[in-house]
Amino acid sequence: MADQQQDTYDIVILGGGSGGYACALRAAELGLSVALVERSKLGGTCLHLGCIPTKALLHAAEVADTARESAQFGVRATFESIDLPAVHAYKDGVVNRLYKGLQGLVKAAGLTYVEGTGRVVAPDTVEVDGRRLTGRNLVLATGSYAKSLPGLDIGGRIMTSEQALRLEEVPARTIVLGGGVIGVELASALRSFGSEVTIVEALPRLVAAEDPAISKQLERSFRKRKIAVRPGARFESAAQEDAQVTVTLEGGEQLQAELLLVAVGRGPVTEGLGYEEIGVATDRGYVLAEDCRTSVPGVWAVGDIVPGLQLAHRGFAQGIYVAEAIAGLEPARIDERGIPRVTYCDPEIASVGYTEEQAEEAFGEVESSEYNLGGNGKSQILGTQGFVKLVRRKDGPVVGLHMIGARMGEQVGEAQLIYGWEALPEDVASLVHAHPTQNEALGEAHLALAGKPLHAHS
Ligand code: NAI
Repeated sequence: MADQQQDTYDIVILGGGSGGYACALRAAELGLSVALVERSKLGGTCLHLGCIPTKALLHAAEVADTARESAQFGVRATFESIDLPAVHAYKDGVVNRLYKGLQGLVKAAGLTYVEGTGRVVAPDTVEVDGRRLTGRNLVLATGSYAKSLPGLDIGGRIMTSEQALRLEEVPARTIVLGGGVIGVELASALRSFGSEVTIVEALPRLVAAEDPAISKQLERSFRKRKIAVRPGARFESAAQEDAQVTVTLEGGEQLQAELLLVAVGRGPVTEGLGYEEIGVATDRGYVLAEDCRTSVPGVWAVGDIVPGLQLAHRGFAQGIYVAEAIAGLEPARIDERGIPRVTYCDPEIASVGYTEEQAEEAFGEVESSEYNLGGNGKSQILGTQGFVKLVRRKDGPVVGLHMIGARMGEQVGEAQLIYGWEALPEDVASLVHAHPTQNEALGEAHLALAGKPLHAHS
């Protein structure tokens, strides 16, 4: 039994996902003593159930499409089939390598790693299997879970993204409930694997958080890929039979499939963890925090439990921010609007900053322009369609960048710098972009917005 003295730290972190482990590593680097508590696997949702495994599936999906479409590039290859167990082996191999690496990092950092389910029992104490860890600061980083709808039980042919990561065979038909980020990514992968996919989305458009121009292009591309899109359709009920599942929409229409994938959002993991009992303010289970500070001094919150974008890189940034703030470094505040967003469906979506509508609301007069990838050499070589849309304040800086097209996620880095440094289109236009790259599309979009288009029709 560890004595009380030894179990006192500068920081006790509850949850070893992106937010929690980033905080732990940075704090240890800064010489703080850290205890990191994790009930399952170090790395959390991102590494084991989210970003990494799903992007591996999407890469396998891209390879399948490349094989199928190879003749269009003059290469004769035959697409045979998807060997899902082999796809999983590849995906799990990627996850395991990263998991080992992360375990090594945590070990080398010299922090105390505690396996087990922790619960906050006082504003400075976490209890894990009867062991009390006391911290000058507590960091809540317990993450999120895949939600379902009332009356819609997960099991059998009804799955969330979590079970879908272990699918044993490709369903002949799939209904995806929810056309948000997870919905469109899984729809995209399953379509490439050969399933007939229908997306049911209650709102009038897919990826409703994005600029409407992006949703429109995505729906067009998905229809071309023969993914059925049902915007404005509300789910009423689902019933499982032996060989299929029947979904009834409001209004009575029924859809049948072998698999129903539920992707209606992720909820915070906060229930029963003692947060409210110590006075931490919450809203529908989310922990309210201002610059990661909760309503209780010395108690911090990072990642998916804090309202806002549920993204691993936001968690990393918040974790690092908290460690530096505790160490007295006075880190710069995180601009949530400047956090880049990438959705890895085919075509890919990448964006940062304001949509046109949000910019109008925030700044009044704005200007926007779209640069079509039809004028971009590398995109034509790849055979992809899409565009770069820019939004600027009238005669002012660029405040929103929205991109869609194969591989466009890789362009988000420069987009983020342009947004973050409040660049004028004229500033970016004077920077030379390499030819032929897709990155050039960003350069040309700025040339066009600065009034000197090159490969663009006005
Ligand atoms: P989401 O909030 O993005 O989308 C859920 C969708 O389900 C919404 O469009 C909503 O209107 C729809 N919906 C809800 N109830 C419905 C009903 N009764 N009938 C029909 N449609 C209904 O949530 P999602 O896709 O589950 O993702 C969860 C979180 O994970 C997101 O915050 C996302 O940012 C994050 N994530 C990010 C990824 C990335 O950055 N590439 C990848 C996967 C997830």
